[in-house]
Amino acid sequence: MAQKLVVGNWKLNNSFHQATQLMEDIMARLVDVPVDVSLGIAPPYVYLNKAVDLTGHSIKLFIAAQNVAPWGNGAFTGEVSAEMLASIGVDYSLVGHSERREYFNETSDQLRVKVDLLLEHDIHPIYCCGESLQTRKHGNYIEFVSQQIEEVLFHLTQDQIQKCVIAYEPVWAIGTGETASPEQAQEVHAAIRDLLRSKYGAETAGQISILYGGSCKPSNAKELFSQEDINGGLIGGASLNADDFIAIAKSF
Ligand code: PGA
Repeated sequence: MAQKLVVGNWKLNNSFHQATQLMEDIMARLVDVPVDVSLGIAPPYVYLNKAVDLTGHSIKLFIAAQNVAPWGNGAFTGEVSAEMLASIGVDYSLVGHSERREYFNETSDQLRVKVDLLLEHDIHPIYCCGESLQTRKHGNYIEFVSQQIEEVLFHLTQDQIQKCVIAYEPVWAIGTGETASPEQAQEVHAAIRDLLRSKYGAETAGQISILYGGSCKPSNAKELFSQEDINGGLIGGASLNADDFIAIAKSF
């Protein structure tokens, strides 16, 4: 069975004081989260160290980076390497969020290197994929998402792919208030599961968590998470409020 996961992506939000308060509020409510659900928080880089400290190395809540450099340590001003993230106890990292693809021109070639560097340092990649509104309207969204996954993940071994999480985030649903319907999301999640099955076999495919992201909130999480191939969520806006975030985590 795939692990149930709810991961908060704070993006470029919160002062240090606000971030600390939010972390503390979430930690205080962890007892309300069902035992079979794990939580993750992806704060901005500058708060990662503090966030790791505040978790007290809880097994219930892990800290994730929002990004990682596609290089090892060296002369790359302004970047943060997988080795650095590992050295402060970061266990997961987003890779290929649609905002990074769009605003920072991240390509499949770069994303493949990021995935490799993370795995080299025992950090679990949360690989984000998803189609634009244009691709959705054109009708070839399953092929598009499949290609994003094949190009970046399909060189991995069986052991390596099992350490990855996949987040399906239709770009037209991110931050727009427009959620994919449970049926729309399930259709793509099932296709991703099939793709993984064809490459890595049924057992491995069944163990990989596939998260839905895009305007997921307390009012729609239950319906989304009840779909067969949706193992949790990658939450943007609603993860900035501890009550909403915990309510989502209780929606399985
Ligand atoms: P949203 O963002 O929940 O605010 O739509 C999700 C994401 O971008 O990960």
